[in-house]
Amino acid sequence: MPSAQQLLITIDGPAGAGKTTLSKMLARDLKYRYLDTGALYRAVAYAIRQQDINADDDQALAKVCADLQIEFVEDRLLLDGVDISSRIRTPEITMLASAASARLPVRKALLGIQRKMGQRKGLVAEGRDMGTVVFPEADLKFFLDASIRQRALRRHAQYAEDNNEQSIEDIETDIRRRDENDSNRDIAPLRPARDAIIIDSTRLPADQVLERMLTHVHQLTCSSKC
Ligand code: DC
Repeated sequence: MPSAQQLLITIDGPAGAGKTTLSKMLARDLKYRYLDTGALYRAVAYAIRQQDINADDDQALAKVCADLQIEFVEDRLLLDGVDISSRIRTPEITMLASAASARLPVRKALLGIQRKMGQRKGLVAEGRDMGTVVFPEADLKFFLDASIRQRALRRHAQYAEDNNEQSIEDIETDIRRRDENDSNRDIAPLRPARDAIIIDSTRLPADQVLERMLTHVHQLTCSSKC
């Protein structure tokens, strides 16, 4: 069994379920690294938007992905050396990322990139297919869910902080469409891994979700020692 500092932990779930908040909290608590794979799909969306490429043009997508120069520097995402962290959070890039993420050339290219980034343990990786496809051998897999209304309310509060004035209804519509895209695509659809621990955070504040996650971490890391 790996030591407490060396687990690979995945957190999957739909948009707005609290994955980012919890992944960061968990990584901070355990002193692990954090990998935001949604940001990688957003970077692809940003690149294809810049180059005016259609999200269903597989040939062009393959070329964009082959040329993709992306890296995380601390928690900033650089594309071709330029910090695009805030530019990938617009509603347009959000929907484009969901569309592009259903395409085979994009998933193939990002699979290799993600596995490379996750080579060393001591990592919390968040996304849609972390536990099912990218890191099926992960030590601990969580699937975080919440009602659509709750997810829209959370996103609304978060957007308000960023001066994005989308209404709750519009956010809910976008989330519904994204759930539909992300769950029904042929390749690596959003779903819990068979061995995932499912946590519904609709009525649970983040610190209680964290507590539950840490209990599982400690159960796993202490099972032979504590
Ligand atoms: O987590 P996010 O909202 O930043 O993700 C943006 C889009 O990227 C999401 O709609 C689906 C896609 N995505 C994916 O298909 N697989 C992942 N592992 C992460 C994100």
